[in-house]
Amino acid sequence: MLPRFLKPTLSVAQKGAQQLSTSARHNAKVAVMGASGGIGQPLSLLLKESPLVTELSLYDIVNTPGVAADLSHINTVAKVKAFNGPDQLRDSLKGAQVVIIPAGVPRKPGMSRDDLFNTNASIVRDLAQACAEVAPKAFVAIISNPVNSTVPIASEVFQKAGVYDPNRIFGVTTLDIVRANTFIGEAKGLDPQKLVLPVIGGHSGITIIPLISQCKPSVSFPQDQLKALTERIQEAGTEVVKAKAGTGSATLSMAYAGARFGFSLIRALNGEQNIIECSYVRSNVTDAKYFSTPILLGKNGVEKNLGLGKLSDFEAKLLEAAIPELKKNIQKGEDFVNKK
Ligand code: NAD
Ligand code: LMR
Repeated sequence: MLPRFLKPTLSVAQKGAQQLSTSARHNAKVAVMGASGGIGQPLSLLLKESPLVTELSLYDIVNTPGVAADLSHINTVAKVKAFNGPDQLRDSLKGAQVVIIPAGVPRKPGMSRDDLFNTNASIVRDLAQACAEVAPKAFVAIISNPVNSTVPIASEVFQKAGVYDPNRIFGVTTLDIVRANTFIGEAKGLDPQKLVLPVIGGHSGITIIPLISQCKPSVSFPQDQLKALTERIQEAGTEVVKAKAGTGSATLSMAYAGARFGFSLIRALNGEQNIIECSYVRSNVTDAKYFSTPILLGKNGVEKNLGLGKLSDFEAKLLEAAIPELKKNIQKGEDFVNKK
């Protein structure tokens, strides 16, 4: 049987139909931290739509009662509950098996993801602290930028709390894979749902490394087109930031990608086999302590890191350029938690 990673991706509607047929086996409590935001709301909608989710806990510092009341009228199984403000943070996490974190500020034109560090580092640290106390066994999926640093931050917090399991903390890079599929599908006139290719490394600029040489079905491009496509995938977030002209960054495509990743985590928890997603995790595949590669997911999180596979010369150079930047981002995150 082909692993999920090698299978054509299903549409959200097809997934819904597939989920309905297996719904009896699935029941997960999912907490969304930052649920009132640009990503949080559509992500919560997609989660509410799915029979994979039986309880949906919505936490934010503002507006969750309204978002929860609205979603709770949808006639699906998930029970929706609002938690508003720091006093309710810990309650929001009780019993959560999957915690998805899109809390934090987005970029404006001219900013790098690292420019978000000063605001988002403490948001992720505090949410991770609560999670380490209340739901230390949950799978934690971090969307908040800069992902290259926020995953090390959450990991250090769990480590300090004495509950760190590197197999349960994930940086969500799924949007890079979704984009790579879309752009390559467009360039080759192929259905993007039927393409599979890994995007490895981290989640910012040159640390995003699409492995087009490993695309299934196989595709090839002249060198100038390959370079342009690679750069478009690396800068796709900036493309959206510019188009949104100061009103935020990717939200709808991120909600789609975040829901896909969340569903894969729940399926793995439920014992489904061959669930594979790229994710930025603690890793010894390269010199960078955290690195995204295809990951076989299981009941305990990372079951097996599937590694880099065979890289083309072009991809090997991209990897070489990414490592120093990644290491810097990782160190910055760790120093933030460990500073006196
Ligand atoms: P947004 O401003 O629309 O929403 C963020 C939400 O977080 C708001 O509702 C805000 O109230 C909430 N929030 C702030 N502080 C909080 C706290 N301490 N606890 C809980 N909630 C808190 O932003 P957005 O567009 O939804 O983006 C959120 C984050 O996701 C940004 O950092 C953005 O850069 C990142 N992002 C990541 C990816 C990715 O691929 N990983 C893609 C897109 C966006
Ligand atoms: C993205 O890739 O869309 C996100 O990381 C948001 C951003 O700032 O580009």
